[in-house]
Amino acid sequence: MTALHTPTETVRIDLADRSYDILIGESLLGQASTYSQLPKAAAAMIVTNTTVSPLYEAALRQALSGYYKLIHTVQLPDGEAHKDWVTLNLIFDKLLGLACDRKTVLFALGGGVVGDMTGFAAASFMRGVPFVQVPTTLLAQVDSSVGGKTAINHPMGKNMIGAFYQPQRVVCDLGVLKTLPTRELSAGLAEIIKYGPIADMAFFDWIDVNLAALKACETRAMAHAVKRSCEIKAFVVGQDERESGLRAILNFGHTFGHAIEAGLGFGEWLHGEAVGCGMVMAANLSADMGLIDAVFVKRLTDLIERAGLPIKGPVLDVKDNAGHYLAHMLHDKKSVAGDIQFVLMDGLGKARVSAAPEAMVRAVIDRCCA
Ligand code: NAD
Ligand code: GLY
Repeated sequence: MTALHTPTETVRIDLADRSYDILIGESLLGQASTYSQLPKAAAAMIVTNTTVSPLYEAALRQALSGYYKLIHTVQLPDGEAHKDWVTLNLIFDKLLGLACDRKTVLFALGGGVVGDMTGFAAASFMRGVPFVQVPTTLLAQVDSSVGGKTAINHPMGKNMIGAFYQPQRVVCDLGVLKTLPTRELSAGLAEIIKYGPIADMAFFDWIDVNLAALKACETRAMAHAVKRSCEIKAFVVGQDERESGLRAILNFGHTFGHAIEAGLGFGEWLHGEAVGCGMVMAANLSADMGLIDAVFVKRLTDLIERAGLPIKGPVLDVKDNAGHYLAHMLHDKKSVAGDIQFVLMDGLGKARVSAAPEAMVRAVIDRCCA
């Protein structure tokens, strides 16, 4: 009997000559047709890591074999702690060592860390080669692989060195999510939940009702969540590709979240965990500033907790915890002339970016950290 698959969905990112499709479906990664009509080249380079390679590299290689004479691989060490210059250079070393030319197509096979580093490598190798995102984590499928932000971390701040550089295609194979550890699935749920408060309360309500199905990785529910997340991201990126305004709302929870990640040392908390907790803090700040009702803060906090995410921030410094958070937040890319900018809810399903009184921010940090 033929297996029943959910149909492949396509979400278009509309960016003039940088437009591309996000394909969403089951078993896409290993199907040759998934990769048709990409830029022609003699060689492809699969960039992956030591965890994902044994799981999915062979299937991707097989699917690409009809399109490229040479298929190379570079395996990076796994983890946010390796999202740095040293690891990025491994990609350049391999490309140069194999005399890859400027048509070589890079395939990012992995989560957001691999995707962000491959994108940055593609943006800068020979001043730009094509690349394809094959995201294998939920977080990467609903957020990081889409929209062209690429970067590595600097010890002083998250994603500080990078480029805007769009992929040729994004391939979201829902089947690969089945091997994802529970903690990583929860981290991805944080970025899905994010889209509700800032853009679509009906989607927030849907997540609330369907959370158990999402946690169980049920295909139908996951297909809807990935598609709706990508649609919202596509809409926002289509309006403001380089974050001169609107796109910053996608950083809801990230100002606090980046402080948690940098303050603890990259890799201690997962990015999605920091964003989940950061959203609780940002919602608290929004309520304290009179922009939303405290009832919603409770609802969001409960959902984040049910998704398996932390709702209390870590204490980064026993003497002056809030001061420590503020120092890290100052390095956030949204900061303007020394003013920290927050993504605040501005009513339900709407967001705006603005500074906030320091005393209020300190009060939120004091209340939300344990
Ligand atoms: P990750 O890339 O570290 O992946 C999480 C873990 O899951 C890793 O150990 C990875 O090897 C493993 N893994 C990946 N796919 C797997 C699978 N199918 N089965 C089993 N294990 C698998 O983390 P992430 O959460 O995917 O991405 C986080 C990164 O994304 C952060 O660096 C963050 O800054 C970045 N990010 C970027 C953007 C953007 O717009 N570019 C947006 C959000 C987040
Ligand atoms: N993850 C935020 C953005 O892509 O803008």
